[in-house]
Amino acid sequence: GSYGGQYRPQVHFSPPSHFMNDPNGMFRDQNGTWHLYYQYNPTKSVAGNQHWGHATSQDLYHWTNQPIALFPPKKNVYIFSGSTVIDKNNTSGLFGNQSNGVVAIYTLAEYLDDGSPGPQSQAIAYSYDSGFTFTPYDGNPVIPSNSSQFRDPKVIWYEDHWVMVVAYAQEFAIGIFTSPDLIEWTHASNFSNQGLLGLQWECPNLVRMPLYMEDGQRQDDVWTMLISINPGAPVGGSITEYYPGTFNGTHFEAIDSVARIADFGKDNYAGQFFFGVPDDEDPVSIAWASNWQYTQTVPTAQEGWRSAMSLPRRNCLTRIDRVGWKLISSPYDMRPIMGRNLAYNQSLGNGTLTIDFSDTASNAVYWEVDVTGLPKQGIPEMATLNFTFLSPITAEYIRGGYYFGGDNPFYFDRGGAKGFDNVFFTDKLSTNSLFRNGSWSMSGVMDRSILELFLNGGVDSATATFFATRPLTCLIISASSLPHGTRVSARVNALKSSW
Ligand code: FRU
Repeated sequence: GSYGGQYRPQVHFSPPSHFMNDPNGMFRDQNGTWHLYYQYNPTKSVAGNQHWGHATSQDLYHWTNQPIALFPPKKNVYIFSGSTVIDKNNTSGLFGNQSNGVVAIYTLAEYLDDGSPGPQSQAIAYSYDSGFTFTPYDGNPVIPSNSSQFRDPKVIWYEDHWVMVVAYAQEFAIGIFTSPDLIEWTHASNFSNQGLLGLQWECPNLVRMPLYMEDGQRQDDVWTMLISINPGAPVGGSITEYYPGTFNGTHFEAIDSVARIADFGKDNYAGQFFFGVPDDEDPVSIAWASNWQYTQTVPTAQEGWRSAMSLPRRNCLTRIDRVGWKLISSPYDMRPIMGRNLAYNQSLGNGTLTIDFSDTASNAVYWEVDVTGLPKQGIPEMATLNFTFLSPITAEYIRGGYYFGGDNPFYFDRGGAKGFDNVFFTDKLSTNSLFRNGSWSMSGVMDRSILELFLNGGVDSATATFFATRPLTCLIISASSLPHGTRVSARVNALKSSW
């Protein structure tokens, strides 16, 4: 395809051209096709003029760009974020005998003549052709409002009715509405003022999350609220928070008052869960891999596009001693893009593995490091495991590392990539990542200008964009000061471009 360019990701979704932000309306249809819509400005490489772009996939990695699905209905009214459902029982009465009718639920965002935000209201549109073309409903909006800060409806089915979560963005409240038919909506409750506030709450999701204990045992599912916060993340700008809790069809209550962040990188925002994934499978999500702090100035505009999506992720919850509740994120089945093995070392010990992957056409790699046999005590303070991606031409780098002592901090540093002069790229991203049962692991995907990291099988994850002037085509993995008996294995694979 035409997805060339030094920064253009090869295994992540990015728009054909111009500006993209939030994933919208994601669902899996009854034939197994995945539909991704997205906030899209088809005319400029900055936000504005919002449409819903559309792409489809059989495996969540190989995407086919489709015609734009939703257009602004009139001057100064735009299509903001929202969701879709399959109305298989025709609750809406819009679909006759059809059992694959799709309804999109989204925000109509009006702007006043002076450019300031006007009312935001919730509207629907229906599709007879499984999500390729939509007709706006005649009676829109289905939830009118005078507020300029009321947006991002996400709808799910709960036992015998539809449930919408929608943000009262600057009131730090998520409204919960119910409906029998997607048309008449009743306000049932609010979930508000908990955890981190920032300036705005956006893009809520309410998900029935599987809970797996450390021994792999599955327990009762836990309703989980996810809320995107912007600006005001502890690391700056945009971030996603999650709240395990209980939900009875009308009211959500958080289990405790701990603020938890879904991804410790800076480029994972407005994530959404797919409708139509059966209950016996773990939920699947995709987030926007960027941050409002700098998204409109990143250098990818030279290549005619801005922003990519995160990898598709499977999600579930776990509960860990000394750590508590954790949202687990791991890449959706990567076999469709997994390429040849570039290196495999089962006994790296306190050694260094260097892989030059400049002949990998995609410039994208997957790597994984497993550390086992760590003793309970006596680990030297200096014990570390590091990885570095390097340009052999300019010596630019990005790197990360893990400390086996102390609180087991892990850090990631993108400051050695010099293609984007931005203060927010000079600080380090970090988290604590306790090793357990003598084991610790890291895996990651490096995709030209996006890095995704998964620690301990996804107990911690980070999405981070970076922009070097030259491709980083060398990976160095090294361990040092690990005590005798510790085993380190490392594997690196090429990734096949999906474009
Ligand atoms: C989040 C967001 C949403 C809004 C959309 C507009 O990134 O601000 O709240 O619907 O982007 O593009």
